[in-house]
Amino acid sequence: MKVAVLGAAGGIGQALSLLLKLNLPAGSDLSLYDVAPVVPGVAVDLSHIPTDVTVAGYGKDELADALTGCDVVLIPAGVPRKPGMDRSDLFNINAGIVKNLVEACGDNCPEACIAIITNPVNTTVAIAAEALKAKGVYNKNKLFGVTTLDVIRSETFVAQLKGKSTSEVVVPVIGGHSGTTILPLLSQVEGVSFSDEEVAALTTRIQNAGTEVVEAKAGGGSATLSMGQAAARFCFSLVKALSGEDVTEYAYVQVDGSEDAAFFAHPVKLGTSGVEEILPYGELSAFEQKAKEDMLEGLRGDIQLGVDFVNG
Ligand SMILES: NC(=O)c1ccc[n+]([C@@H]2O[C@H](COP(=O)([O-])OP(=O)(O)OC[C@H]3O[C@@H](n4cnc5c(N)ncnc54)[C@H](O)[C@@H]3O)[C@@H](O)[C@H]2O)c1
Repeated sequence: MKVAVLGAAGGIGQALSLLLKLNLPAGSDLSLYDVAPVVPGVAVDLSHIPTDVTVAGYGKDELADALTGCDVVLIPAGVPRKPGMDRSDLFNINAGIVKNLVEACGDNCPEACIAIITNPVNTTVAIAAEALKAKGVYNKNKLFGVTTLDVIRSETFVAQLKGKSTSEVVVPVIGGHSGTTILPLLSQVEGVSFSDEEVAALTTRIQNAGTEVVEAKAGGGSATLSMGQAAARFCFSLVKALSGEDVTEYAYVQVDGSEDAAFFAHPVKLGTSGVEEILPYGELSAFEQKAKEDMLEGLRGDIQLGVDFVNG
């Protein structure tokens, strides 16, 4: 497997690259690209760790080399939030960055699975889809918005609240990846029950967990370490699936014929060619149904913003 991280010198990029160097299957290649001049150093640094994963760093003008032959491309390039910003405030800078990087994927590794981490994910995934369509290489089964951080946060918070081990807790999270578009399905968590007050408070905490980190970092950025872990988990699931194992993960993907939105986080069955099947998310409680109905218009607007960014 060849895996590329675009934005590899950043907070997420470095944490993610470390986890990939430690845990990708032996014989994999890790390709690190960033416009920051430190990226070759990050690659040399990681290359001293004794695992059977080869690491190479690529600077500003070497994007094509970084991408050639890739099976998986993970994109955390862009600017993170500061206190007082929501994810949509990042749109003006990050939209162009994602469009350019995804176009380069279309040119150099059109068969690769592309996982977008750069916010606002609700919109940047739509930008990526339109940019690939314009190049005639869009494959909806190979484009993902990474929402795994919402899943791991939910698992952590539920386990803490209910005194469980995190390894026993599975929390479905559907929808998008900002504010109220993040919809944890607490009614489907097995082995625990919640009062109405707990559901309301926990849902709000999960939706605002990114802001918890942004405020605690006080101007120093947003989640990087937990996001690095989340992206690594998603990447390992993809790599396993591409190697022939059956894997199910939650991800923000194109859902044809959806009554919700053109892109929506669902449980997806992954296989050797990316998404094999988009699984239904099951029955919602009355609270979840209302939360979904209330956020759909906003999510559809976020998606349209991405479509319009590419198509004018
Ligand atoms: N999906 C999620 O759950 C989630 C969670 C947290 C953060 N994020 C997003 O991830 C992004 C990165 O966050 P971070 O904390 O790592 O930021 P950061 O500023 O620490 O790192 C970003 C890196 O991207 C690089 N970069 C900028 N333009 C580039 C380009 N054109 N090509 C290649 N590299 C480029 C920068 O040089 C930098 O090294 C932000 O948009 C942030 O909002 C997403």
